[in-house]
Amino acid sequence: MTSTRPPRSLRFRAANVRNAILTKLPDALSLGRIKARHVAQPIVIEEVVTASANWPQAFNGVRIAHLSDLHYGHLLGQERLAQAVDAVRAVRADLIAITGDLVDLHSDDAAPLFEQLALLRAPLGVFVVLGNHDHLDHPRRIIKGARDAGLTVLMDESTRAGGRDGLLVAGIDWSKSITGCAQRLRRCGVARADLLLAHNPKAYVAAHERGVPLTLSGHTHGGQLARKGNRRHNLVFSQRLTAGLYRHDETNLYVTTGVGAWFPLRVNCPPEIAVIEMQTR
Ligand SMILES: [Fe+2]
Repeated sequence: MTSTRPPRSLRFRAANVRNAILTKLPDALSLGRIKARHVAQPIVIEEVVTASANWPQAFNGVRIAHLSDLHYGHLLGQERLAQAVDAVRAVRADLIAITGDLVDLHSDDAAPLFEQLALLRAPLGVFVVLGNHDHLDHPRRIIKGARDAGLTVLMDESTRAGGRDGLLVAGIDWSKSITGCAQRLRRCGVARADLLLAHNPKAYVAAHERGVPLTLSGHTHGGQLARKGNRRHNLVFSQRLTAGLYRHDETNLYVTTGVGAWFPLRVNCPPEIAVIEMQTR
């Protein structure tokens, strides 16, 4: 696997400009106070219990720590990263799922990210899929960094967690559309996974059609600004499934609002790590 940098894309350059305007400039004008206040927000541990008749009996009661959207970079540095990793470790989950946007923009300086993620351990393993931000700079470097850290990166593929008769975990790479997510899910080569990891919640459409009992996603950040008392009334306009648990027939989707941010403000939408206990109905 080569680490030669691909040419910087238009998307990368646009994201860099957006980052400078929405994040670095206000932070500089406030002499760092905006960022300091932003990262002082406690990370909430969101405990969720749900069930499905399609969930394998052998894994009844499994607890999954769901971490997403770290956006390691300007707004989430080493100290905040260590807080998030410590919080995940404290949960002592059976399985850890990381659903993309590990980095905000640059992958060059991501070594400390992987040093921290290497501390994550779970009996059934630690699984990763990539998000759209991981594709902005150098996705192959992200994949290599995660694999070298001992994490299982799933790029439109599946694996058994916990041995030959283990939990069937599938993971798809970033795709923007419902159709694209469905295509990636087909590439996984399994009729019905037990657990699907997909950065984009739009993957749930295909997952529901297949009866996948649990899909875990991120991407939306819950809009970062939500109405008090109802976090689904938020600033996400490009998605229907924006935050929390959705259940339909025997399928479940959890959309975490994530730990990191695009801009240094979260209102009624705290950074979170979800812990999902999955039961067989
Ligand atoms: Fe994100």
